[in-house]
Amino acid sequence: MKNLVVFASGSGSNFQSIIDAISSGSLSANISGLITNKDFIRAIDRARKVDIPVSVLNPSEFESTEEYENRLLEILQENNADLLILAGYMKKIPSAVVNKYEDRILNIHPSLIPKHCGKGFYGLKVHESVLDSEDEETGCTVHIVNQEFDDGPILAQSKVSVQSDDTPETLAKRVLAEEHKLYPKVIQEYLKKLN
Ligand code: GRF
Repeated sequence: MKNLVVFASGSGSNFQSIIDAISSGSLSANISGLITNKDFIRAIDRARKVDIPVSVLNPSEFESTEEYENRLLEILQENNADLLILAGYMKKIPSAVVNKYEDRILNIHPSLIPKHCGKGFYGLKVHESVLDSEDEETGCTVHIVNQEFDDGPILAQSKVSVQSDDTPETLAKRVLAEEHKLYPKVIQEYLKKLN
């Protein structure tokens, strides 16, 4: 069984969809750790409920980037990480980690990459940008993480139509519901390739 280490910075609803997919048997994997950059977030409560070890690691509390990278690498090793899953993680993964886990880090983004992505496109800003551009459809994308924001090879996308009365909030909600279906499925497929 492969070990997933999930990174989250907020509510962790995608993290929850992965936990649920594992317990329903549609995803065969183990979550060996949750890494966050913040205390007191909902993702931590979700982890504690099912006894997933939590590591809170705030980059700004380290004396140097190198020290932070080394600690992160150490935790990943302790968790026997096979695949790193970014699920609403608001920090950039340091390059030493991207290099060590090349092609073994996935991310989900709430738009159809290459649209509405990159630095500054997070949360409701993504959906505001979709509405400002008058796009007729949007969706979510799962991709492999490389050194740039939202830039690595795309593994899958799921589309959502934009309705004339959508607000950033209503759109976010429908896209998030698609994310919850797409991410566990793509992880399952990707794990097969890692075998
Ligand atoms: C999701 O929209 C995801 O695409 C983005 O951050 C959000 C995280 O939501 N990367 P949650 O914490 O999983 O609820």
